[in-house]
Amino acid sequence: MISSDKLKKMYLEFFQKNGHKIIANASLVPENDPTALFISAGMHPLVPYLLGQPHPSGTKLVNVQKCLRTSDVDEVGDSFHLSFFEMLGNWSLGDYFKAESIPWSYEFLTSNEWLGIDKDRLSVTVFAGDEDASRDEESAGIWKSLGMPEERIYYLPKEDNWWGPAGATGPCGPDTEIFYDTGIEPCGAECKPGCSCGKYNEIWNNVFMEYNKTSDGRYELLEQKNVDTGMGVERTISVMQGKKNVYETEIFVPLIEKIKELAEVEEIPDEQEKSIRVVMDHTRAATFLLADGVVPRNIEQGYVLRRIIRGAIRHGRRMGIEREFLTELSLAVIGIYEADNPHLRKKEAFILNELRKESKKFNNTLIKGLRRFNRIADKKKEIDAKDAFLLYQSFGFPIEITVEIGKENNIPVDVPGFEEEMKKHQKVSSASADRKFGSGLADSQKETVKLHTATHILNEALRVILSKDIVQRGSNITHERLRFDFNFDRKMTEEEKRAVEDVVNQKIKQAIPVTQIETSLEEAKKIATQAVFGDRYGEKVTVYSIGDFSSELCSGPHVENTSELGHFRIVKERSISAGVRRIRAVLE
Ligand code: SER
Repeated sequence: MISSDKLKKMYLEFFQKNGHKIIANASLVPENDPTALFISAGMHPLVPYLLGQPHPSGTKLVNVQKCLRTSDVDEVGDSFHLSFFEMLGNWSLGDYFKAESIPWSYEFLTSNEWLGIDKDRLSVTVFAGDEDASRDEESAGIWKSLGMPEERIYYLPKEDNWWGPAGATGPCGPDTEIFYDTGIEPCGAECKPGCSCGKYNEIWNNVFMEYNKTSDGRYELLEQKNVDTGMGVERTISVMQGKKNVYETEIFVPLIEKIKELAEVEEIPDEQEKSIRVVMDHTRAATFLLADGVVPRNIEQGYVLRRIIRGAIRHGRRMGIEREFLTELSLAVIGIYEADNPHLRKKEAFILNELRKESKKFNNTLIKGLRRFNRIADKKKEIDAKDAFLLYQSFGFPIEITVEIGKENNIPVDVPGFEEEMKKHQKVSSASADRKFGSGLADSQKETVKLHTATHILNEALRVILSKDIVQRGSNITHERLRFDFNFDRKMTEEEKRAVEDVVNQKIKQAIPVTQIETSLEEAKKIATQAVFGDRYGEKVTVYSIGDFSSELCSGPHVENTSELGHFRIVKERSISAGVRRIRAVLE
């Protein structure tokens, strides 16, 4: 029976053998992409390259990518939903296309040298065509030539066989999806791949990225035709192992054992099945998020982490675990994943410390909050906006948790009212922050690219004017403004701000070419003055230079010449935490 470790190893080996280079497993927090909170697919960190920028490792890539999807976090606990999961992917950046991609997938799945899946168990779907793009007869033809019987090739519309997050701009295209027949009886005459009854489980998705969706909703053909495939590790092995759900695979065994020990039970009672699954899922997600530097906060990524940790604590309580337990469980997660993710062990002390702090905070208020919830529910049979806000403000209940408790008890919760209440209190609405960032691909608009180059100049200008010890602590760019965090222990004076602006505007006036070189990490460390190096061992990296003024390790994209930037202005400079300042600036 194939294990998850074996699947990952074989996948990388197969595509390496076929000329692919292994690329790093990127951080769960996207670099230079303000449109999404988390990496939610293996292709996500590759967007600039899918749009044509050369990738330092070439045109055929493969990896195992950690992903986090929070859009359906409330469904975690049913058979196949996980918020955190690993995705296997192989990519062609303007290299091979359908005629190589489909046969490779079929060979990997069915050859006895590789997964050896019974061919009769597989069926596929292809894009049926519409006014935006034509019917994918080419993929269907390739499947037929490989021996896939015609009756197991299904043509489905855009909502099933097209990839590119809804509403977002960026690279997208028709896909062909491969399904594994679990062997159970069809749910009816209409049952086919795409049906949710559990007979057909999707195991692989090959996207043929031929289009770029523009911000006015058009699909323009990309100059570079790409392939983007994705295979969910947990889902695929659970299907192949004949399990009914992802939690029955070997990945979760050490966690289940640990939870039984913590809850002091021999078996998990049926009514606690959902709770144990949520605890396992959320602990994995929290461990990996903390390892990537996210800390519990009330906004953005930190809010999602907080809600995940608090959700896990509440479900732990439901299982009778009253003491702090996340640190022990997180250690088990680190143990499972450390071989391929050495950064987990390196960050162990930090991860456990944050979990301990957050558990302490929430444990202090959880029981009282639950009591308050019950009192209100008994009396009013609903949680109105003010109640939900009180539970948030005084007892630390993220709105999603209040809603979940409401569902369990058939008590409606006024979520829109809660968000209004949040706004009134001048807080950033965590829920809407999450939604705003919920989907979307890298924002590659021209303005964003300009601001990205301006950020590099600003970074260096701060070192010239303030201190050579300035380092970047964070950066977030939209098409309207840049935001740059750096270490500095006091407010900048007006003169200093003007001086920094002057340096940046001078570099813009000098019309300096922006150049890029690809090199090893070791070389890059010698050349680049600035970089957030992360865990990219043994990989080729890109260094962007602005004349001899600035050199940064960075994945781009950037403008070609600083003269394209216009006029730089600092809008605001303020403190965001002890010793860290934030500049907001625009190009005009
Ligand atoms: N991007 C596609 C997916 O997430 C294939 O990798 O399914």
